[in-house]
Amino acid sequence: MANAIKPDATRRDFLFVATGAAAAVGGVAAVWPFIDQMNPSSAVLAMASIEVDLSAIQAGQQVIFKWRGHPLFVRRRTPKEIAEARAVSLNDLVDRVARNANIAENAPASDENRVIKPEWLVLVGVCTHLGCTPTVSTPQSPQGSYGGWLCHCHGSDYDTAGRIRKGPAPQNLAVPPYAFTGPTKIKIG
Ligand code: FES
Repeated sequence: MANAIKPDATRRDFLFVATGAAAAVGGVAAVWPFIDQMNPSSAVLAMASIEVDLSAIQAGQQVIFKWRGHPLFVRRRTPKEIAEARAVSLNDLVDRVARNANIAENAPASDENRVIKPEWLVLVGVCTHLGCTPTVSTPQSPQGSYGGWLCHCHGSDYDTAGRIRKGPAPQNLAVPPYAFTGPTKIKIG
């Protein structure tokens, strides 16, 4: 589902996201490939903050938005994915720092420190090795060994909290500054 190109995606969908309006997620899921093709202006790419409506994102699904010129992953985690992330010992992590812009810089990389609400994982979709966009793992299309994301450039393997577990990436996927502005709305940046 993630990254899928829906035939009904339109230019309007793209504008809806790019202007930072509360996004209709059903259309947004298909937006990323179109953004690439349309090569939006630097003014659009530099947008400081966007607001996203989460209500149409299903459990187990990831939707990709664009924020400050980078892909932004919003994943609605299943109870199983949350449990897996919480069962990991800090000792087993490559990078033991949370990398979460919303909390202290040196906070440990527990799953609790990677999220505001456990169900919602919000990440900058840039591999911390050399900047490729990792591919999400789903039951229909498993990637890597930890159920999170696999970066196909050089094999960095991230878990369901976006923490690097194997491969050359030195750091966990970054958690951007964001806040809930409603039960199912977040503002990023
Ligand atoms: S850029 Fe992701 S593993 Fe190298």
